[in-house]
Amino acid sequence: MLNSRCLARATLQAARTPQSCKNISSKARSQTRAAAHPYAQRRQQHFIRSVATVTLLFSAATALQWINGERFMREVHAEEPPKEQLLNFEKPRRAATSQEENRAIISSQHLQVIRSWENPGVYAWGSNSGRVVAPDSDDTFVKTPRRIPFFDDVLLRDIKLDRNFAAAIDEKGDLLQWGTAFSRDAREPTKTLRGKNLISCALSRDRIIALSASGTVYSLPVSQEEQQTGPKPTSTSWIPFWGSNKEPSHRIRTPTNLGWSERVTNVVSGLEHAIMLTSSGRVYSFASGSENYPTKGQLGIPGMTWETRPEGAFDLPHEITTLKGFPIAKIAAGDYHSLVSDSAGRCFGFGDNSSGQLGFEFNSEALTIDAPSLLPTQRLYAGTAQQASVTNVFAGGNTSFLTIEASKPSSTSSPRDVPRVTADTWAFGFGLTGQLGTGRWIHNQSTPVKVPAFSGLFEYDEAASSVIPIKLAYLSIGATHAAAVMDNVASVAVSGKTKPKQLTENDTNWGRDILFWGNNEFYQIGSGKRNNISTPTYIQPLDAAAEAERAAGVGGARGRAEKEREWHRFQITPRQRVRVGARSVELEQRVECGRGVTAVYSAV
Ligand SMILES: *[C@@H]1O[C@H](CO)[C@@H](O)[C@H](O)[C@H]1NC(C)=O
Ligand SMILES: *[C@@H]1O[C@H](CO)[C@@H](O)[C@H](O)[C@H]1NC(C)=O
Ligand SMILES: *[C@@H]1O[C@H](CO)[C@@H](O)[C@H](O)[C@H]1NC(C)=O
Ligand SMILES: *[C@@H]1O[C@H](CO)[C@@H](O)[C@H](O)[C@H]1NC(C)=O
Ligand SMILES: *[C@@H]1O[C@H](CO)[C@@H](O)[C@H](O)[C@H]1NC(C)=O
Repeated sequence: MLNSRCLARATLQAARTPQSCKNISSKARSQTRAAAHPYAQRRQQHFIRSVATVTLLFSAATALQWINGERFMREVHAEEPPKEQLLNFEKPRRAATSQEENRAIISSQHLQVIRSWENPGVYAWGSNSGRVVAPDSDDTFVKTPRRIPFFDDVLLRDIKLDRNFAAAIDEKGDLLQWGTAFSRDAREPTKTLRGKNLISCALSRDRIIALSASGTVYSLPVSQEEQQTGPKPTSTSWIPFWGSNKEPSHRIRTPTNLGWSERVTNVVSGLEHAIMLTSSGRVYSFASGSENYPTKGQLGIPGMTWETRPEGAFDLPHEITTLKGFPIAKIAAGDYHSLVSDSAGRCFGFGDNSSGQLGFEFNSEALTIDAPSLLPTQRLYAGTAQQASVTNVFAGGNTSFLTIEASKPSSTSSPRDVPRVTADTWAFGFGLTGQLGTGRWIHNQSTPVKVPAFSGLFEYDEAASSVIPIKLAYLSIGATHAAAVMDNVASVAVSGKTKPKQLTENDTNWGRDILFWGNNEFYQIGSGKRNNISTPTYIQPLDAAAEAERAAGVGGARGRAEKEREWHRFQITPRQRVRVGARSVELEQRVECGRGVTAVYSAV
């Protein structure tokens, strides 16, 4: 078994030997939580993996630490001891001292999953100065997750939030808007653009860019007044009720020279620019705000300014032709910069670099770069014999993140149990309020640094007798704070029918780990406190009230007072087909960080 010995740290830095090998745990969480439920089969593979979780550390001390099947991650820096957590969250699980205790611990996680299915909706927290996170309330802040009653039992395709406005796409593909920048009077979300079968949206400073299932890109003003008074395209809809006089003012910004069967599949937006990706891996950009024309090179079209732009509307899309030949797979936009990565694992950045958010040193006085420029990601693995491949890009505010899979050529002889592929997360850009998640507080981080909490994590795959990497499911990067959802072992096989009291360890649901970090001046982390956080941290479960009741119940029943009133941590429910009301739908909880605000919603 893995946890019986120290693993040589050969994977990362061959020369160094582990200085310590601690926290070897006794008992991993049961890996056979599957039972015979129909959903269980295809997840069986996952359960088998959960025998051991290994955290390979990458700090100066190069401690190698084994953590048990709880998958609990902790960073250890020799020079700085790990910070105390604000709330006393659930500890890595040890062998249960009694069945009762075991049940008490697992039932929080189980109930979180069950609740997310029985009670779909939107939880939001952070700044409420624009009445985004609590549209019906005049509170300035919402300090811990709170439901927006309007969305009770509502499933959404997407949600995006800024401090003063928000947009959501409902299950039918209609756009909903709220917040003071939309309307000072509206006290709840209001339908604006309808009947377009929208699938996602992106926010600029004053416009919403929405994408339909067929690949049409709409750009419409945030403000309700502008929507009513602005120019409207002649309606192409055949449904009389949706006639042009009812439609909000908008422009269609789908690229016009797309190939046969090529369509736009993703749109992201900064404050002034949007980036569009097509099904053929081509990238287009356009000015997505109406206040300022992008001037920091974030459009990726060298030499293009307000003066030199082609004839026609200022916000027509242009193809980024310098990326021809690199089939782009992922796109991301910060406030004033853009990142893209191609299917071969290369990454390119363009736009504002004043905080180092383009991620490379260059001997230049220029603080902005208007031509897509290759990030030298292989250099990050110099001397490791690992081949680096960028798997995803994320950006928000003036901060950037990359996920990289570093693999060793199979010829390299490595000890058994040393994985061939390592999944790492790198951060760069502005980090003064902790948003890099690296434990540092820094103005401009221009060379990517590894985020230890999301790098070099492994779990043991018993079936294959090998160690495999734990990857990130995704990151959501707000303007100054962020959230990460881990692709860790999750168990959602148990239907809502089981009563908590009848649960055993073998039929319990577990969600995915979700961690938050960064600026917290508007309580956007959801920790209930206001201090900025520079290392990823857990928060308490969404339904704090229900959790408190549960904790009290457990404490009372077992005759122990405060000690047992332990808070558990929020885990997010992965995609699963479940019954909602009378129908069966595929559902997952997703997190979205905005500007000083955060939401978790039930996504179809
Ligand atoms: C980066 O973003 C933060 C938060 O929006 C801002 O305070 C800071 O001035 C920005 N830094 C630069 C160099 O633009
Ligand atoms: C990007 O910004 C960083 C930090 O300000 C700087 O060190 C680096 O040289 C800049 N890169 C380019 C290409 O200008
Ligand atoms: C980067 O940060 C350092 C200090 O943190 C500062 O002295 C320097 O001027 C900054 N560079 C840029 C380009 O903002
Ligand atoms: C859970 O499953 C394991 C393995 O199948 C079994 O040994 C154990 O008794 C089960 N626990 C309970 C409480 O049913
Ligand atoms: C967090 O960062 C913000 C923005 O820089 C700052 O105003 C605030 O004081 C910081 N909070 C704490 C508790 O340090």
